[in-house]
Amino acid sequence: MQDLNPLAIELNEHLQDSAPVVSALLSKLGKRIYLPKGILSQTAEANAKAHRFNATRAIALKDNDMMHLAVSREFVSGLPLESIYGYAPVLGQPELREAWKTHLLKENPSLAETALSLPIVTSGMTHGFSLLAELFVDSEDTLVLPDKIWGNYRLIFQTKAGANLQTYPFFNTAKGFNTHGFRETLLNTTDEKLLILLNFPHNPTGYAITHTEAQHIVDAIVARADAGCRILVMIDDAYAGLWYDASVMQESLFGLLVGCHPNVVPIKIDGATKEEYAWGLRVAFMSFGLGEAAMQPLEQKLSGLIRANTSGASQVSQTLILEAMKAPGHAEQKRHNYEMLKARALKAKEITSDARYTKLWEVYPSHAGYFMCLNLKSGDAEVVRQQLLEEHGIGTIALGETELRVAYSCLEESDVETVFEVIARVIEGL
Ligand SMILES: Cc1ncc(COP(=O)(O)O)c(C=O)c1O
Repeated sequence: MQDLNPLAIELNEHLQDSAPVVSALLSKLGKRIYLPKGILSQTAEANAKAHRFNATRAIALKDNDMMHLAVSREFVSGLPLESIYGYAPVLGQPELREAWKTHLLKENPSLAETALSLPIVTSGMTHGFSLLAELFVDSEDTLVLPDKIWGNYRLIFQTKAGANLQTYPFFNTAKGFNTHGFRETLLNTTDEKLLILLNFPHNPTGYAITHTEAQHIVDAIVARADAGCRILVMIDDAYAGLWYDASVMQESLFGLLVGCHPNVVPIKIDGATKEEYAWGLRVAFMSFGLGEAAMQPLEQKLSGLIRANTSGASQVSQTLILEAMKAPGHAEQKRHNYEMLKARALKAKEITSDARYTKLWEVYPSHAGYFMCLNLKSGDAEVVRQQLLEEHGIGTIALGETELRVAYSCLEESDVETVFEVIARVIEGL
């Protein structure tokens, strides 16, 4: 075991004083990591004081601005050079972080400003989860997840970080979220440290929880925390805002978890990825339900981790998201896309639950997001997928032996019926 750097020791002490539960949740790497003072602090000093020549940054300047190639600049000609080519701050552009915080407070009435950190920018949500795995997960730590998940969690937390995954069936017999199974799984663990990951609107089913289910989830977490367990709860809000059914909760579960128990540390991971229709820009956010004193050392540790992997998210991507959020047509254009997705979702629900298909599949309840998931009553999902692809040119995702996920978000409303008709024909022909 290598010696801890004095800066890491200082951060650990600071965290132990301000947030002992967060400190206890840190992984071995989380304890070791720190942000070296070196180049960053010397550059910051020079930025403040070098009024003649500043030869610190690892960039190239011309006429006091960013040296660049005109052939790329012409595609983003309306933006200042620094906002395209300059390095972004390690934790993200301050104005974008503030803008995202304002957005979160507006969309989540349960959230109080005091207990919401400034969001940290990551290179997509996947990067956010990877950072959390590095900061908090050691090999053999327990991560509680439902059996239906976005597959990348396995790669990040199990394959890479070595966590021990404990799963429970996502649905109960009434096809609601299995709050009982969730609670039982939590109460059956004996660990002093627990990681939980929850995702609503859900991939792959499109399920969203009701207010009552949300409260049951919080109660279960609080019950385990009451027994002395320290719990990190990661809330994957990739599809936040895309709720199409008035009966489900229209805000993040995160808001109910913040401040629910001193042993519970909630983290919200969300992104421009789906919310801003900017999948490939790789801009996402990680927000903690923690106050300033805890965030200070934690931000230093996260800066160290980010510095050591991506070194920071893309500057031009962050600029595009921020400028879009400030633009006059932003809210209206988002509303327009939402209405389009909602129309497709309602169409998909109407078609898939038609009585003529009940012998072929069960439709998992879907209220939000991008997906509809069919549980086939006969036939193998992979065989169906392959036939759809090879014989009809239709792409779907087979999950396990019986489940077929259809991203209606990728279908025009007028094509939804055809796609499910063909799926039905393929199953019937098997
Ligand atoms: C539930 C969920 N979380 C996270 C992501 C990934 O987000 P990103 O592309 O920002 O890494 C996805 C993408 O499909 C997803 O479905």
